[in-house]
Amino acid sequence: MRRPVIAGNWKMNKTPAEASALVEELKPLVKEANCDVVVCVPAVDFSAVSAVIEGSNIHLGAQNVHFKDSGAYTGELSAAMLKESGVEYVIIGHSERRQYFGETDATVNQRVTAAVKAGLKPIICVGEKKEEREAGYTDPLVAYQTLIALTGLTGEEVSDVIIAYEPVWAIGTGLTATDEQANETIGVIRKAVAGQYGQEVADKVRIQYGGSMKPSNVKGLMAQPEIDGGLIGGASLKAADFSAIVNFDR
Ligand code: 13P
Repeated sequence: MRRPVIAGNWKMNKTPAEASALVEELKPLVKEANCDVVVCVPAVDFSAVSAVIEGSNIHLGAQNVHFKDSGAYTGELSAAMLKESGVEYVIIGHSERRQYFGETDATVNQRVTAAVKAGLKPIICVGEKKEEREAGYTDPLVAYQTLIALTGLTGEEVSDVIIAYEPVWAIGTGLTATDEQANETIGVIRKAVAGQYGQEVADKVRIQYGGSMKPSNVKGLMAQPEIDGGLIGGASLKAADFSAIVNFDR
């Protein structure tokens, strides 16, 4: 079936020297993982992290990508720049980018398109805020975010993307969705994909849970049939915690 994918989102943490040290420590701890292991690091760390993970089972990810090939877009990075830096995965539409940097469903779709065309694997983040869950909007909202993000891709391209369901109220708060809540909402996302691209594509798409995932709750979440991995913030900054999550099945 679907191979789990566990990705760390380091956010704005770790200088190049700190990044090297963290992946050095991580490498032996995750080398027998039965899942894809990814670290999504700040762009200034690409080179240091690449050097350490070369030949290992750890893959490099970025935290954003611009949709244009090049040009006057101060502060942005193109898909080709990421590719040449050894990046294979890229987080797109994280709720922090939506909340603080004006990211919209439309720009998420543009970034996803650019990433896929360049051969990068997007990790597309969707998820509801607390008030949206309380108002009963979670299901249509995550379905809408997902389908807009994927607009224009072929079924084959869609089957290879990763979606991360991250309830905004669970990010960095210590609150986690219950195993059942996470499974149910990820099921809604998969159903939306099936409705648009067919069941075969939906059965291939890997959908992660993200939001205060940690060694103590990973087993329960990963035991759910719809959950294919995790996108880990805080707990990805410590080798012991991140490796315990990666090795959830031991
Ligand atoms: P935390 O694991 O720190 O809650 O962050 C989740 C997240 O935002 C991953 O992208």
